[in-house]
Amino acid sequence: MIHTRISGTGSYLPGEPVSNAALIAAHGLDSSDEWIVERTGIRNRHLAAPGVTSSDLALEASRRALQAAGRQPGDVDLIIVATSTPDYVFPSAAALLQSKLGITNGAPAFDVQAVCSGFVYAVTIAEKFIRSGSHKCALVVGAEVFSRILDWKDRGTCVLFGDGAGAVVMEASAEPGILASAFHADGSHHGILSVPGQVCGGVATGDPFLRMDGQAVFKFAVKVLADVASEVLTAADMTAAQVDWLIPHQANVRILQATAKRLHIPAERCIVTVADHGNTSAASIPLALDEGVRSGRIRRGQHLLLEGVGGGFTWGATLLRF
Ligand code: UT7
Repeated sequence: MIHTRISGTGSYLPGEPVSNAALIAAHGLDSSDEWIVERTGIRNRHLAAPGVTSSDLALEASRRALQAAGRQPGDVDLIIVATSTPDYVFPSAAALLQSKLGITNGAPAFDVQAVCSGFVYAVTIAEKFIRSGSHKCALVVGAEVFSRILDWKDRGTCVLFGDGAGAVVMEASAEPGILASAFHADGSHHGILSVPGQVCGGVATGDPFLRMDGQAVFKFAVKVLADVASEVLTAADMTAAQVDWLIPHQANVRILQATAKRLHIPAERCIVTVADHGNTSAASIPLALDEGVRSGRIRRGQHLLLEGVGGGFTWGATLLRF
């Protein structure tokens, strides 16, 4: 049987950290460091310089993941980028990333748009390709420049998000890696978190900024994250006690704590990086994963539970042996 394991991780945050105080001052926001830290746990975020795109951030994260995996770009035979802030309407950020990495072997490259669940969606898709035997070495990336879709006059959203990228190399293996995955969507909730605009006739039409009913999202997120975590644990015939590290989408420290509590996973076994980069949507899970690996907390052979929830609504989880 062909299994799929993560052979390397990498991540990248652009520029210097921007503190809550600096962001508030830069945009004249009626907010405070105390409010942001208390309600979200966020202390800093990174913002890409003008002209720096998701595929640029993806490139840096991918180089680091490939190096960690001991792979060359030419070894990659599948590229999936999870993003809701691609460089262009088309071509995909994945196609641009392929070009920037100098990959000329014709490897298929496409984007997955599932907002903050995008990385879990992309990992789930890549695992199915590898398990089928059609592909052997996938580069799976979450990359976002959410700063481009924020309304800097809306204090309820603009303080929450940041830019960044995280990547993993996923390879065919004789040993189990991915143990179970689940992903879901319920489009009836599209109104509580969306960017309800588009490019039409050469101009942005509708509303091109991120809009969110924060409390509705909060309640929905805590419920489905606990549910989908239980779903993959059941599928793998495991319990939460066997999970070494919970690596949730980094949106709000209160959501992370509430989810961990529901799963009876102690806070010490939860990777939390939201303070350092805010909500980076599809990039947040691989950013947290890479931080856990590079800090030495996550070690080979440990069981990891990745989970995310985002606009759509979409949600999903992946349970794996690292
Ligand atoms: O990736 C998935 C997407 N997003 C999420 O997971 C986010 C989910 N939701 C949340 O994290 C929280 O709901 C928020 C952090 C967005 C908001 O926290 P909250 O505790 O739900 O606050 P709230 O929306 O109930 O607002 C409380 C007050 C309001 O003032 P009034 O009406 O009580 O006078 C807001 O206007 O806080 C006000 N407020 C702020 N005050 C200072 C909202 N944003 C700010 C701000 N600074 N930045």
